[in-house]
Amino acid sequence: MSDMEERTFVAVKPDGVQRGLVGEVIRRIEARGLKLIALKFVQLPLEVALSHYCEHEGKPFFDDLVKYITSGPIVTMAFQGKHAVLIARSVIGATNPVQAAMGTIRGDFAAEIGRNLVHGADSVENAKREISLHFKDSELITTWHHTGEQWIFGS
Ligand code: RTP
Ligand code: MG
Repeated sequence: MSDMEERTFVAVKPDGVQRGLVGEVIRRIEARGLKLIALKFVQLPLEVALSHYCEHEGKPFFDDLVKYITSGPIVTMAFQGKHAVLIARSVIGATNPVQAAMGTIRGDFAAEIGRNLVHGADSVENAKREISLHFKDSELITTWHHTGEQWIFGS
């Protein structure tokens, strides 16, 4: 796999949808140069939410987290590009919006850790797991040419 084929999974959580921030989230990630390869508007079934956040099972915030992520529709996305995981995480900002830098999505629009608007996979391995949980292979469209790529990544 080439560097340019690194993938990440991003979701606009129910509060992001309710607050009309879907376009803002997509715009900021697109603007950093990542290539959109999948997108869906969906309300997660409980089993999918439990599987998505399995690493947090048993933590004190787990039940609230699952209630939150299943409380309304979300937008799920996969992006591709060099350092896709780190780039998306840096656009999103620190988990607790109180500590998130201005200029990040959470730093600009959120105030509560339990309402932090966006999810971004935290590693290449988790991104793979999350993309295959939320998308069928046939829903990933990687063949289109991202015209700006050579100017953004220099290759
Ligand atoms: P995410 O997975 O949603 O992108 O967030 P993250 O990596 O920045 O943070 P993570 O540690 O994976 O936590 C997942 C989500 O759980 C909620 N949370 N609440 N009350 C709490 O102490 C607490 N800690 C985490 C947040 O919604 C966080 O995004
Ligand atoms: Mg996480």
